[in-house]
Amino acid sequence: MKRIMLTPSILNADFSNLKAAIAHIEDVSDAVHLDVMDGNFVPNLTFGPLVVRAIRSLTRLPLDVHLMIAQPMEFIQDFRDAGADWISFHAEVTRHIGEVAGAIRKCGARAGVALSPQTPAERLRGYTDLLDFALVMTVMPGFGGQRIIPEALEKVSAIKAISAEEGREIPVQVDGGIKADNLDMVVEAGADIVVVGSSIYADPEPAAAARRTRSRLDELASGRELAGGVSLDYNQGN
Ligand code: DX5
Ligand code: ZN
Repeated sequence: MKRIMLTPSILNADFSNLKAAIAHIEDVSDAVHLDVMDGNFVPNLTFGPLVVRAIRSLTRLPLDVHLMIAQPMEFIQDFRDAGADWISFHAEVTRHIGEVAGAIRKCGARAGVALSPQTPAERLRGYTDLLDFALVMTVMPGFGGQRIIPEALEKVSAIKAISAEEGREIPVQVDGGIKADNLDMVVEAGADIVVVGSSIYADPEPAAAARRTRSRLDELASGRELAGGVSLDYNQGN
């Protein structure tokens, strides 16, 4: 059975107690998803490397930093220095996907490209080799707690088809509006990595909600055909 990765987003957690927020999810998660917003690419502001560094000291989990910022090149090294292990940036902010992905890998992190709901999977064609994962957004970037846009899930299989044509399937992360009542649909669409934010942190018992999500993912994975399973461990050591 190929594990489906769970990467909870702490966007809707209690920021006055991040230690507890991490403790709720640590045992059942594969990374912590950190949503960085710049008030420019998206109409909201969150946090930068300083907070990522603080979270680094709270967990042994990899830090999955999702950059929703207009100028990713300017900040990659800062986030890496702060402890980011995976770094994703948006295809919509650059005509040079290869250069940005290359800069992320060069500093030793895993590189992902995020696609907003309106951006087609074709945008990734030609770049598979430079990427460690793709991120399919199923809400408009900017806020937690939105409703899933199910049509965006079609991109998961489209990305896999494109990357398979290019000789290497990359794992696909799905992010936005995922909760118990649509988790099955997300996994059936082919998600390898699942971001869950408010469904965990808006629950009165986040730890229990995280555990339930983990066990449902395990059930779904055992029932899913995972021929040629893909792994984020591809070609990198950390
Ligand atoms: C949205 C963020 C998501 C979001 C996930 O811009 O990228 O990671 O916070 O939270 P939920 O699960 O509440 O949509
Ligand atoms: Zn995100």
